[in-house]
Amino acid sequence: MTLTIATKPFADQRPGTSGLRKKVPVFAQENYAENFIQSVFDSLEGFAGQTLVIGGDGRYYNDVVIQTAIRMAAANGFGRVLVGQGGLLSTPAASHVIRKNKAFGGLVLSASHNPGGPTEDFGIKYNISNGGPAPERITEAVFARSRVIDRYLTVEADDIDLSAIGRHEVAGMAVEVIDPVADYADLMESLFDFDAIRALFATGFRVVMDSMSAITGPYAREILENRLGAPSGTVLNAVPLPDFGGHHPDPNLVHARHLYDMVMSADGPDFAAASDGDGDRNLILGKGMFVTPSDSLALLAANAHLAPGYARGLAGIARSMPTSAAADRVAEKLGIEMHETPTGWKFFGNLLDAGRVTICGEESAGTGSDHVREKDGLWAILLWLNILAVRREPVKAIVEGHWAEYGRNFYTRHDYEGVESDKAQALMSDLEARLSGLAGQAFDGMAVERADSFSYTDPVDGSVASNQGLRVFFEGGSRIVYRLSGTGTSGATIRVYIERYEPDASRHGLETQEALAPLIRAADAFAGIVAHTGRTAPDVIT
Ligand code: G6P
Ligand code: ZN
Repeated sequence: MTLTIATKPFADQRPGTSGLRKKVPVFAQENYAENFIQSVFDSLEGFAGQTLVIGGDGRYYNDVVIQTAIRMAAANGFGRVLVGQGGLLSTPAASHVIRKNKAFGGLVLSASHNPGGPTEDFGIKYNISNGGPAPERITEAVFARSRVIDRYLTVEADDIDLSAIGRHEVAGMAVEVIDPVADYADLMESLFDFDAIRALFATGFRVVMDSMSAITGPYAREILENRLGAPSGTVLNAVPLPDFGGHHPDPNLVHARHLYDMVMSADGPDFAAASDGDGDRNLILGKGMFVTPSDSLALLAANAHLAPGYARGLAGIARSMPTSAAADRVAEKLGIEMHETPTGWKFFGNLLDAGRVTICGEESAGTGSDHVREKDGLWAILLWLNILAVRREPVKAIVEGHWAEYGRNFYTRHDYEGVESDKAQALMSDLEARLSGLAGQAFDGMAVERADSFSYTDPVDGSVASNQGLRVFFEGGSRIVYRLSGTGTSGATIRVYIERYEPDASRHGLETQEALAPLIRAADAFAGIVAHTGRTAPDVIT
């Protein structure tokens, strides 16, 4: 029997760059999760009798919200729910399950790379039938609905046993608990040359994968150790934990420092990689080298044809605006389309659906392709391994060879975290007001060519996203971008993205911060970061 429960709206349920993310105690308020899930359902049409996929990264509170969501799906009229065993599905695997089963959509329970635990982060994101994050027209409708919602629908039913694969029924709706790994592993096997990778491993090539006590553990073990024959123990921290072992499941040089130290040591592995809380980000390291996400996108695009799934070439490449222009040079050489979108994977969906791009990437450690509609950490790792298996050269040689051929885009991102929101806003609006006056000015001998606020018109459906970051371009292709993060759960994070193109191979060995020093000084001079925030140095440099 359907129960209609009265509720009162919360004012803070606007989805950010990637769904609604809040601390667990916020989600644990009475009806908070219910309100948001009902607001999602109320913003959709035509799902009666259809399939909904539900899964999460196993973080704290997943088990509670999964059961809530199943009951609410039954009450709202879905015909079937597919849920990963143990409530688990990595974000890319959820995308694949939605597509493969022609589901109406899915609920992905995750706060990505943010820490988990009773006082840490939780999140809910709605994905549409193409397997990708809902576009802004839906997320804005959800937000509008959440501000006026006065009831939600549920049913009286016991919790489902998610520990075993099997079929259940909740108030007349079918619930299938599925193997979270098998379909995804098959998909990877269909894209990459597993025989070649197996042969590479057999030569003694050493690989380390750190799943950071998060969702990719079971996937990486099945693929790398079981199917590809890497020695057992190749996957570190392979058991997903609700609090990620107390760590930050963010595969960057701060939180995965130990991997960097490993590849920098003489007897370190040939290749090391990591993924984040929900399995969509990647970190790529080779002996003696960290590959920046922007370079990784360019390199993967330039070499993708070496993998069977991409042997026919690429339709086009897309990157988020703050991502370096390294991939643009590859697109130019290949003679294919290049697209620059706002930050957020949802902006790639239309381009992928329309067949205009095959590979996409973001500076925030996300890379992926048209095989799903999310970025995909293990996919990026396997494409790298496939390329290495064919080229049989060290990562470092491949990256340096790429720079020699295309030039190097020196790139860094400086983050100022936990800044008071009004100070961060003031910095952005002050800078925006001065943008038009910057053109023609020079700083340290670098001439500003133009400056603007980035606005994107989707070439497929014509939708417009404005205020997507402030950009200052210099003569010669250097660039500074300022934007506020849309994924934080407390205060504001100011991101400053700095880039310089260097064609001269004799200068490619420079240290990144050194190579960018004049631009880093300019970034503060233009925006008054110290004056506005009192911060004299960024909290995180990537
Ligand atoms: C998530 C999104 C990405 C985005 C990243 C950084 O991972 O899926 O698309 O690039 O967050 O977003 P932010 O707004 O914090 O810079
Ligand atoms: Zn993630």
